[in-house]
Amino acid sequence: MTSRRTKIVATLGPASSSPEVLEKMIVAGLDVARLNFSHGTPDEHRARAQLVRDIAAKHGRFVALLGDLQGPKIRIAKFANKRIELAEGDSFRFSVTHPRDAGTQEVVGIDYPDLVKDCSVGDELLLDDGRVVMRVDNSTADELHCTVLIGGPLSDNKGINRRGGGLTAPALTAKDKADIKLAADMDLDYLAVSFPRDAADMELARRLRDEAGSSAWLIAKIERAEAVADDEALDGLIRASDGVMVARGDLGVEIGDAELVGIQKKIILHARRNNKVVITATQMMESMIQNPMPTRAEVSDVANAVLDYTDAVMLSAESAAGEYPVEAIKAMARVCVGAEKHPTSIKSGHRLGQRFERSDESTALAAMYTANHFPGVKAIISLTESGYTPLIMSRIRSSVPIFAFSPHRDTQARVAMFRGVQTIPFDPAALPADKVSQSAVDELLKRNIVNVGDWVILTKGDTYHGTGGTNTMKILRVGDSLT
Ligand code: G6P
Ligand code: MG
Repeated sequence: MTSRRTKIVATLGPASSSPEVLEKMIVAGLDVARLNFSHGTPDEHRARAQLVRDIAAKHGRFVALLGDLQGPKIRIAKFANKRIELAEGDSFRFSVTHPRDAGTQEVVGIDYPDLVKDCSVGDELLLDDGRVVMRVDNSTADELHCTVLIGGPLSDNKGINRRGGGLTAPALTAKDKADIKLAADMDLDYLAVSFPRDAADMELARRLRDEAGSSAWLIAKIERAEAVADDEALDGLIRASDGVMVARGDLGVEIGDAELVGIQKKIILHARRNNKVVITATQMMESMIQNPMPTRAEVSDVANAVLDYTDAVMLSAESAAGEYPVEAIKAMARVCVGAEKHPTSIKSGHRLGQRFERSDESTALAAMYTANHFPGVKAIISLTESGYTPLIMSRIRSSVPIFAFSPHRDTQARVAMFRGVQTIPFDPAALPADKVSQSAVDELLKRNIVNVGDWVILTKGDTYHGTGGTNTMKILRVGDSLT
């Protein structure tokens, strides 16, 4: 078992679909495999998911699967000659009626009928993640007329954002709805929703997920300016989700890169206070697409997210299409372990001065407070149905490992995303009540996680089935005869 607490999400793609590479990635520390529904066919996703599960099982590892819905990314149509080159001061038009495959140096089609309505004179439009910038000068019924502020190449189907956000496309497209069914069919553990505007978008996703028969936890990708406009908007979105992703690509384009570091810290803090899981994503090791070593700046970026106390850091193109997917995971793992040594990763002021709302929450947080203040405690055992009790525990900064003991496959996979949490398959209902504590501690002894004389904290409820029932915390000494 690893001592790394921060989890690693890596996107699978052409560079990481062979059994050989995937096996090396899993051995190097992959915790969550991300299937990006913006690319690839359902059959490709199914094959990758199966490989991940087979290889993880072979190595006794628990790797969660996350499906990432494409969402309503607004894109320009195509150019007659694939690409144009724009210079500062050029005039350019976006047209909802221009033929979709016949863009020119002056005009390109766009598949978003509301573009003209959503934009006003003076707005700035960002193309291709902000590489090309234009200002809206005026509009007609079906066209926006712009001046290029920052020039560069522009090619087929590049994304378009508005500075400050506010493009109104609904979050779930027809393709997303089909992909929710695919995710249910593949039994995915997490489902990420792209560009949600507010809680209502997440509630719709939840309804569709339920109808499809999936139990995947829903991750809201925070990537629109309106999602971080104020605390109310952000907290509303967080509460309607099971977790969030700091999706820095589109978010940075909409709010400006200078705001990004502060917003990342805020999103992580708010997610944790609401007992939600949080992933930090985009360009974390970008130069490793071509190089076997990260830059110092990338090392600092990953370490900063670890110090912010993110649950997971994510690789995108680095692992999906880069030349060094295995090295990227190794580098991330190394940097996480290094950053976790910093004292701020261990000391917690989590929710001091705040009220708790539930009995399981109170028990879980009491267990962590004890673990952080009683140096003899070497491990925490949390008997859990859904993973919720260890999730609450892992919201607190700590260096004491948390073990989610559960008989359920989906829970064992899900907790792979939680910082500081590892799973051990365990079915308390299969044991006489007076043998549960002893058997649970024996599982840790067997794996050399604890030694005789160490202390262990164990949490559980009065019944063995059903989530939300945790009401007991025991402090056990390894080697004593336990009941
Ligand atoms: C297991 C334990 C119960 C406990 C429950 C908590 O089933 O045996 O005693 O109440 O987990 O599950 P939760 O999903 O809330 O973490
Ligand atoms: Mg995005």
